[in-house]
This record gives sequence, structure tokens and C-alpha cells, in this order.
Amino acid sequence: MRVLTGIQPSGDLHIGNYFGSIKPMVESQKDNEVFAFIANYHAMTSLGDGERLARLTMQAATDFLALGMDPQKSTFWVQSDVKEVLELYWVLSSFTPMGLLERAHSYKDKVAKGIASNHSLFSYPVLMAADILLFNSQVVPVGKDQIQHVEIARDIALKFNNEYGEIFVLPEFKVDENVATVPGIDGQKMSKSYGNTIPIFSEEKVQSKIIKKIVTEPVPMEEPKEFENCNVYNIAKLFLDYEERLALQNRYKAGGEGHGHFKLYAHDVIWEYFRPYRERRAYYEAHQDEVRDILKMGAAKASAVAAETIEKIRSVTGIRY
Ligand code: ADP
Ligand code: TRP
Repeated sequence: MRVLTGIQPSGDLHIGNYFGSIKPMVESQKDNEVFAFIANYHAMTSLGDGERLARLTMQAATDFLALGMDPQKSTFWVQSDVKEVLELYWVLSSFTPMGLLERAHSYKDKVAKGIASNHSLFSYPVLMAADILLFNSQVVPVGKDQIQHVEIARDIALKFNNEYGEIFVLPEFKVDENVATVPGIDGQKMSKSYGNTIPIFSEEKVQSKIIKKIVTEPVPMEEPKEFENCNVYNIAKLFLDYEERLALQNRYKAGGEGHGHFKLYAHDVIWEYFRPYRERRAYYEAHQDEVRDILKMGAAKASAVAAETIEKIRSVTGIRY
């Protein structure tokens, strides 16, 4: 299966991103052909700071490599390094009814939140359709908020195919219902926008401080505590195997320890879990040229696929004359 994922480089990655998106993607490399790219053109719709976008793009690349993106096995690149996507974006625009974009929830939500409406925000799904269709993607794993965008890509592909024949593979979205929503330190969904995240890569002191802020019920130290709805437990359990979960549950039930103790434990467990990734990240951080070379190699692999699609498109649409 050819699986395609796009990641916006819009901030520090947190453990919600890790369990909801990065870990499944890394694991899917085992038996799929993974195409993954850093969607820096898409991030332009929300980031107006060039220095920051460039920095976050390299940061995302470094983080993904550290967390297990395998550039030999998979194709990993930066969106703007494969220019064919912009050509396809224009071609697809002629197959995108205005109404289709006007119905996009993501656009409507952003405008409702007061984000200034502009053309790139409006045509965002067309560029995303170009990302998907350029590489003959069969499956696009997404969070619930992105389902409609994949459906839009499919609608556009159908319209194009109706006119010019079976050129595009019709993509399908995949939402992993098993991946529970990771709670933030306040118990709401962990999200950059809520300021309640635990970053994957931070200084140990910073992580420890954040974990101390996890909201818990006030229960006297000696009394038993319930773990099911405890934010500390629900975050820690993501990092524990079955036996370790039971052991932690027993500590809750036994009483005699406060939430502070469980927070210390959660901190240690999270810190240890990411240790090997942190070490790999330190390596890539110190070898940014190597990261750039990897991205270049990925762009070359992606370009080869893109060039084939674009040739077909130019030919059937009469752009090649
Ligand atoms: P954020 O909400 O922090 O802005 P994004 O929207 O950039 O995160 O999400 C990037 C990826 O991480 C998406 O695939 C999304 O489904 C996943 N993700 C984000 N937050 C969580 C969470 N709390 N639990 C599970 N998955 C999440
Ligand atoms: N819009 C996606 C998001 O915000 C990122 C993205 C851009 C993407 N192009 C894509 C995701 C193509 C999947 C396929 O998360």
C-alpha cells in the first residue's frame, strides 16, 4: 500500500502527536510504502515569520528522523522541494467547484476563529489534493479534522478522471479509532492550541516542571486513590506495559502515596522512554547537513514519481503542445 502523510511544521511536537500520528506512521513503514513530507507551503497559511518557518521545518525533519522515520526505506522530503506540486495545484483548481471549498469545515472554523480569510487559506484543500494525487497515494492516515480534505481530493480526482480518463488513483482516508486521544496536563485533549502539552523533546527540568503541573484531585496522602480518571495515570499508562500498569494501579489503590509520587514516576518513565530518541536527535541536531542531504535524497525520490504524474497530466490536458 502506498501511504502518504503530510505534517505541518507549526510548533514543538508533543506526546499527543507521538501516539496519535508519529508512532503509527513509523510502525507502518514495516509493511507499507510510506511517503511523508513536511508541509511547509501549508504552514505558510498560519505562519507569517520566515525565519521561524525555516527553523521549524528543520526542527520537524530532525524530530521525525530521531523518532524513527527511515529515509532509506521511505520517501521523506520537504513539500517545497518538489515543485510539481504547485503545477498540479493549478491544474486541479480548474476541477474544483467553489462550492466544494466553501463547504470546507476547516476553512469555516478558521474564519470563525477570526483568522483573516485569504486565498491560500481558502484553496488549502486544493494544494492538499495535489500532495495526495501527485504521488498516487492509496491511503492517507489523518485525524478526524482532515477527513473532509481527503474527500475533497477524491472528488477533484473523480472530476478530472471523468474528463481525461483514469489518470488519478482515488485516495482513501484512514482514521485510527484505536488511537485514543491523549489527554493534556489539564485533562482536555492535548493540543498546541490549548497550551497543555508535554513536549517530546525538552530539557529534563522543563519536562519535570510540566509534569508537576498535571491537574489531579486533592486526596489525602494516606487514602487510596482512583486511577481511572487520573490525568497522571492516563498519561503514564501510554508508556507502560500490562504488568507495569497493574503495578501502578496497585500503588494508587494502596494509599500512602500522593499524586506527587506518581508524577515523579511518570516523569521518569517518559524521560526513559524517549532517551534513545533523544540521543538520536542529538546526533542529527549536531549533523544538520546530514539532515539536509537526507531531505534532498527524499526530494529526488519524490520528484521521480511526481515527474511521471505531471508528464501524463501535461499530455492529456494539452499543456504539452
Ligand atoms: P495540535 O492539536 O497540537 O495542533 P496537530 O493538529 O498538528 O496537533 O496534529 C498533528 C497530528 O497529531 C494529527 O495526526 C493529530 O491527529 C495528532 N494528534 C494531535 N493531538 C493529539 C492527541 N491529543 N491525541 C492523539 N493524537 C493527536
Ligand atoms: N493538512 C494537514 C494537517 O494539517 C497536513 C497536510 C498537508 C496533509 N498536505 C497533506 C496531510 C496531504 C495528508 C496528506 O494535518
